Amino acid sequence: MVNNGIVIFISGRGSNLNAIINAVNDGVIKYPIAAVVSDRYCEGVEISRRYKLNTLIIDHKKFKSKLSFEKELIKKIKPLNPNLIVLAGFMQILSISFIREFKSKIINIHPSLLPSFKGLNTHAQAKEAGVLIHGCTIHFVNEEIDGGKIIAQGATSISKKFSESEIEKKILNIEHLLYPKVIAKLLDKEININEHNIILCYD
Ligand code: GAR
Repeated sequence: MVNNGIVIFISGRGSNLNAIINAVNDGVIKYPIAAVVSDRYCEGVEISRRYKLNTLIIDHKKFKSKLSFEKELIKKIKPLNPNLIVLAGFMQILSISFIREFKSKIINIHPSLLPSFKGLNTHAQAKEAGVLIHGCTIHFVNEEIDGGKIIAQGATSISKKFSESEIEKKILNIEHLLYPKVIAKLLDKEININEHNIILCYD
C-alpha cells in the first residue's frame, strides 16, 4: 500500500494547521495533506476548506462512546495510509487501541516545556510557577497524556508581567516555526524515534 502523506487532527482555531499548509505549499514539507480531521465544526475547518483540502468533520458529540468515535476515525483514516498523524490543537485523548493502530506515527504539539505543565491552561500554570523560560514541545503520542518521547522543544523568556495572551502569542509564534520543520524532518527520515534528536528553537 502506498503511503499517502499527512493527516492533521484539529479542534479549534487552526493556526498550526495554517502554518503546516503554508509549509506544504512552500515545498518545505514534501508530502501532501491527505486529510484534515476535526472533531467539531471550528475555525480550522474553514481554513482547511479554503485551501480545498479533504476536510472531515467527525463530531465527537454524535457518538455514544469514545470507542465508537475512534472506530469511525479509524475507518476514515486507515484507507489513507498516512505517513504521519499530526495533532494540532486536537482536544481529545486518544485511547491505547487507537494509538496502536498507528504505531509511532502520531505526534502532538503541547504549549509548555514538558514534562512541566501537562494538561490544560499551561500559560497560567507557567505564570503561577514564576518560570522565566517557557515554550512548546513536540512529542510522539503514547498512552501517557503529554508523556510520549520528546522530539523537539522551542523556548522563550517570559515574566510575571506578561499577560496570558501575551505569553500565548509568543509561544504560538514558536509553534508555527517549529512544527512544520519537525514534520518535514520526520517525513524525510532525518529524525529517528530511537535516537536523541532534540531540535531547539529559541525565540
Ligand atoms: C496550540 O497552542 C497547541 O500547542 C495547543 O492548542 C493550541 C492550538 O492552537 N495544544 C494543546 O493544548 C494540546 N494539549 P491552534 O488551533 O491555533 O493550532
